[in-house]
Amino acid sequence: MRQKIVAGNWKMNKTLEEAHILTAELMGMVADEVKGNVITVLCAPFPYLLPIKNQLGNSSIKVGAQNCSEHDSGAYTGEVSATMLKSMAIPYVIIGHSERRQYFGENGKLLATKVDKALANNVTPIFCCGEPLEIREKGTHEALVKQQVEESLFHLNQEAIQKVVVAYEPVWAIGTGKTATSQQAQDMHAVIRQHIAAKYGSATADKISILYGGSVKADNAKELFACADVDGGLVGGASLKSREFVEIVKAIG
Ligand code: PGA
Repeated sequence: MRQKIVAGNWKMNKTLEEAHILTAELMGMVADEVKGNVITVLCAPFPYLLPIKNQLGNSSIKVGAQNCSEHDSGAYTGEVSATMLKSMAIPYVIIGHSERRQYFGENGKLLATKVDKALANNVTPIFCCGEPLEIREKGTHEALVKQQVEESLFHLNQEAIQKVVVAYEPVWAIGTGKTATSQQAQDMHAVIRQHIAAKYGSATADKISILYGGSVKADNAKELFACADVDGGLVGGASLKSREFVEIVKAIG
């Protein structure tokens, strides 16, 4: 059975104190209410990674970063490398979020390097793909998402690709309150899995967790997570409220 994962993407939100309060609330609720078959990840801003990791202690909740550099070390002011994440024992990193692609000009080739750096440091990449609205309206969304997956992941060998988590996040659904229907999500997840299967074989593709992201909320999570190829969620806005986020994590149980 594929690993189920619900990751919260805090983006650039919360003071350190607020982040600690949210984490404390989540720890209590997850311990009391969530069954053991799902991994919960909190993707926090860089300066909070270690304090939040320390706070989590041996809780079942994991911490993740939201980005990493394509370089190992050196004169890259303001950047954080996967080597640094490894040195702090951070187990997950989001790579290629649409906001990184859109505001920071990250392209498929660069993201392929970031994926490599994460894997080389034993940090699991949560690789994001997804189409903007105009591409969905043109009807070329499947071709674009296949290309995104190909550009940044298809250089990996069979063993390496199994260590990647994929997140499908249609850009038109991110932060807009407009969620993909469960049918739209399932259709694209199946396309992604088949595309991986065509290159690596279905046994490999069947092992890869594919998360859905884009306005996941407590009231739509159950239907999305019930889809055969949806293995969890990458949650932005709703991960900033403890009760809402825990209800989403529970929806996969
Ligand atoms: P959202 O963000 O849940 O606020 O739409 C999802 C994401 O950007 O990962």
